[in-house]
Amino acid sequence: MKFFVDTANLQQIKEAHDLGILDGVTTNPSLMAKEGIQGTDAVMQHYKTICEMVDGDISAEVVSVDFNGMIDEGKKLAAIHPNIVVKVPMIKEGIKAIKWFTDNGIRTNCTLVFSAGQAILAAKAGASYVSPFIGRIDDSGWDGMALIHQIRQIFSLQGFQTEILAASIRNPNHIIQCAEAGADVCTCPLDAIMGLLKHPLTDIGLAKFLEDAKKFA
Ligand code: G3P
Repeated sequence: MKFFVDTANLQQIKEAHDLGILDGVTTNPSLMAKEGIQGTDAVMQHYKTICEMVDGDISAEVVSVDFNGMIDEGKKLAAIHPNIVVKVPMIKEGIKAIKWFTDNGIRTNCTLVFSAGQAILAAKAGASYVSPFIGRIDDSGWDGMALIHQIRQIFSLQGFQTEILAASIRNPNHIIQCAEAGADVCTCPLDAIMGLLKHPLTDIGLAKFLEDAKKFA
């Protein structure tokens, strides 16, 4: 399973990258706004900076909701760097745009996916990635991880090449469950990745080793 970090914060991207296990980055307009990135030029420059920091797929989201607008935006985003993957919302115009991008050699990430039916449509249109939002499904009282299992089963059975990119990850356990469910990618907040490191017995064990090491130093 590939690890992406789900942020537009350059310090967090650097910290995840420095771990040596980072395979890519996802962003969205909300994450961009959180970093105070405003205006088309600033957004494009920010994506360029991220591409220069991380050698992996970088999802850059369109904000148009009509076909022509999405195509126009997506072409500009894809021109920033070969690693850019154009992120397109799961709406009717988005599916048409994904098909157009597929036919024209531009890779896509279909975002805001909350059902298996939506995932099938995205795969049929040739999306490179499909992004089911686990945490938001859990937040609304449904079972986000069950959707990952369902999409994995369908994609494997049908031979769809679209990669399952589990998004809206809230905690380290989500990451472990995504790995168990066969997600191809997990895009995570930095603290969820760092949370995988933690175990009290590791801390206790290391303290004891270091204490004992003093005896023969
Ligand atoms: O990037 C899309 C997704 O990961 C958003 O997560 O936490 O806003 O539900 P969240």
